[in-house]
Amino acid sequence: MKILVTGGLGFIGSHTVVALLEKDYDVHIIDNLSNSSLSVLEGIAKITQKAPSFYNFDLRNEEKVDAFFKEHDDIDGVIHFAASKAVGESVENPLLYYENNINALVYLLKNITKLNHKNLIFSSSCTVYGEADQLPITEEAPIKKAESPYGNTKQIGEEIISDTCRAYDNFKAISLRYFNPIGGHSSTLIGELPIGTPQNLIPYMTQTAIGQRDELSIFGDDYPTADGTCIRDYIHVMDLAEAHVVALERLFGSEKDGLYEVFNLGTGKGSSVKEIVDAFEKVTRQKLNYKIVGRRQGDVVAAYADTEKAKDVLGWQTKLTLEDALEAAWNWQIKLKEED
Ligand SMILES: NC(=O)c1ccc[n+]([C@@H]2O[C@H](COP(=O)([O-])OP(=O)(O)OC[C@H]3O[C@@H](n4cnc5c(N)ncnc54)[C@H](O)[C@@H]3O)[C@@H](O)[C@H]2O)c1
Repeated sequence: MKILVTGGLGFIGSHTVVALLEKDYDVHIIDNLSNSSLSVLEGIAKITQKAPSFYNFDLRNEEKVDAFFKEHDDIDGVIHFAASKAVGESVENPLLYYENNINALVYLLKNITKLNHKNLIFSSSCTVYGEADQLPITEEAPIKKAESPYGNTKQIGEEIISDTCRAYDNFKAISLRYFNPIGGHSSTLIGELPIGTPQNLIPYMTQTAIGQRDELSIFGDDYPTADGTCIRDYIHVMDLAEAHVVALERLFGSEKDGLYEVFNLGTGKGSSVKEIVDAFEKVTRQKLNYKIVGRRQGDVVAAYADTEKAKDVLGWQTKLTLEDALEAAWNWQIKLKEED
């Protein structure tokens, strides 16, 4: 079966491409390399001994999107990862986020709705819940006003997809709300490759431990949690990749017109930033330089997933541990340093 993966050279996309190729899907990647590199394609090929087809263009270019689908009208499913994802940047440059995360989605949808097989998996985020009233967070939790333009693009994206499902026969879609993806492939041939200063905890942590950055800043230790630092649900990217294949196969197996579902993808376990620092030091035997600084705007106190729906309906749950993920992230960082 022929699958289009947008953003397939990015962090989560590349690991999902590996999972798809390992199940013999015919994978086509569109990526404009705005937050990735061609070396990822080589990594994917080395791991799988297969070469996905790669198209380097920007999904904001509607003509190019249309031309792609004209040539590939036999696509069976689309997984849409491509987006801008830095919360802080979205506050400073909201229009870039609305253009990249919304326009590109609409151009894709206009084409998917013309295909014989209209199947879409959308990368959403736990950010749609904001500061949830109850933990763990179920898919029924109310969607609150977004804390940032980035979060808003995920809320709007889900609404656009849900409306499209209602309007078109045979259009089926699943939105996957990721919690905090970390780690990398055990081969160290692909991993998280942040361009510039990392916005997420783990790459900042591994870059600090390897000596690329002086110290890690922990944003606030006065939150109402046991040790005062924020709590998140860290999920190994390999588990996350697997979930995409399972979700895609659910769409393929479903006869239901207008199917639209959302699933949380997390481990169900929350870890505080300090717990992550401790676990990282233990797994890697590295001492981490860190300091406590003020709270960061827009950070919620705690977020971790209720995983029951994914377990019951998708039959999917995480298999790898936090320690596995931290070790993979660290090995990947060492590999990057060696190549430097
Ligand atoms: N990483 C996280 O913590 C996280 C959490 C929740 C949701 N998500 C969502 O998951 C998806 C993938 O995230 P990721 O961490 O792999 O990000 P990433 O930046 O590593 O990957 C995104 C890829 O899309 C490409 N891209 C971006 N805009 C494009 C465009 N206009 N045309 C073509 N290619 C384009 C980039 O070059 C990059 O390779 C995103 O939609 C993100 O919002 C990520």
